[in-house]
Amino acid sequence: MNKIHFIRAYWSDNILIESNGRFALIDTGYERDAERISKYLDEVGVKELDFILITHFHKDHYGSLPALLKRFPVGKVYMKKFSGINRTDGSGRPATEESNRLEMENCENMCRLAEEVSKLVVIDEHVTHVSVGDFDFGLFGTTDAVREMYESPDSPYRGQVIFGENTNSVAMFCDVQGTTIYLGADANNQPLDYPKYDRVNDQFARQIGRAIDLYKVPHHCCGGIFSEETLEIFKPRYSVVTNWWATVQRSFGANLEMLRKASPDGTILYTDCCGYAFTIGENGNLSYEEITPLPKITLEEIPSEEVDAFWEKHIRYLVEDGIITDPEDIDYFSGDEYRSVILEHMKREKDRHHLVYFVREGKRIGAASYCIYQEDGQCFILDFWIFREFRGMGTGHYCYYALEEAARAAGAKYFQMNIHTALAYRFWKAFGYKEIGVDEWGDPLYEMRPDEQ
Ligand SMILES: [Fe+2]
Repeated sequence: MNKIHFIRAYWSDNILIESNGRFALIDTGYERDAERISKYLDEVGVKELDFILITHFHKDHYGSLPALLKRFPVGKVYMKKFSGINRTDGSGRPATEESNRLEMENCENMCRLAEEVSKLVVIDEHVTHVSVGDFDFGLFGTTDAVREMYESPDSPYRGQVIFGENTNSVAMFCDVQGTTIYLGADANNQPLDYPKYDRVNDQFARQIGRAIDLYKVPHHCCGGIFSEETLEIFKPRYSVVTNWWATVQRSFGANLEMLRKASPDGTILYTDCCGYAFTIGENGNLSYEEITPLPKITLEEIPSEEVDAFWEKHIRYLVEDGIITDPEDIDYFSGDEYRSVILEHMKREKDRHHLVYFVREGKRIGAASYCIYQEDGQCFILDFWIFREFRGMGTGHYCYYALEEAARAAGAKYFQMNIHTALAYRFWKAFGYKEIGVDEWGDPLYEMRPDEQ
């Protein structure tokens, strides 16, 4: 039996290859993914892994490696090592010498650990294939491209730190019983004045020169990953995007359009809400099933006679999260004046105010406060927060999607809110919120129109 399991994840890769009772893992997701990956491996019956391959040294690909090495016997660790001159640090900010030094140390530590408990194989141009059972993957992008362009005397980028580790990604191709598989890691298709690395994804596609049945879309389907030329060759039958469905739709819709154009009958799957296990049948037939679906998030409207518990949580959140710090503000938001206005608006028929809890598996995990105005369909979000103990793992994103869905069903056509911090904006930007000026109190106002996304 030959299978490829895309374990549920958002914005990280963790792909389990299974062939006749043998297993290997391509990338290990974030550190936070370790438990979920281990649990899934247990469910599938993995006792040991022939190898783990890290396609490039980014946190969403190597994060769980130490935890998994402790948890499972692993035959080999194939490591595409850190270049040491990444353009950005782990959180997407411009890298500094210090952040690169720390990341290099991190990489060396992981390599040492791999040597201790497994066998380390550093990926370079001499490592051309990796295999597990019937899968024999050819590797692409095995050179240390980032360093080469930085150091090579004939490089127009000599001495310039302008490339990220994605440029070092190892892509993989294999043909099992006539079924073709391409795992694109985070390889990008940057146009460069250096022929060897100019639009590498196009170069890989040209070398492979075949249609692809199962395509792990490079770099979570972000911008600049493929061209019409690549897709004209690959015409992917199944494309798997290791990212959030809605974020990809909103931010990288052009990529999806290209995919659909190249392969009108193709299927695009996203690993945010569930994983997918593909099976290659005896005759090479490819089929898939959903695995480990994420529990659904629903909204629970708080009846106006039960709002006291809500207010208690609300004021604690405003203070603990530093949304309000001024004692006068604390008084105002704890006071009857503010609360009675909201309560009044909750009772009215028109332009109703909603206080809701987000509920997952019977547990209240967050809350929101918003109002929908009937006249033009404006939905103004006053508060949106996830209770501290449930934060992380994309919970905020899923709660927001649940809110947006409910609000749209209740007539919301566009959404507005005040955003005060850069950190908050980073979260809301992914949903398409854009600054449109200031409100009547001078607070920065942001808007998102789903139909324009
Ligand atoms: Fe990534």
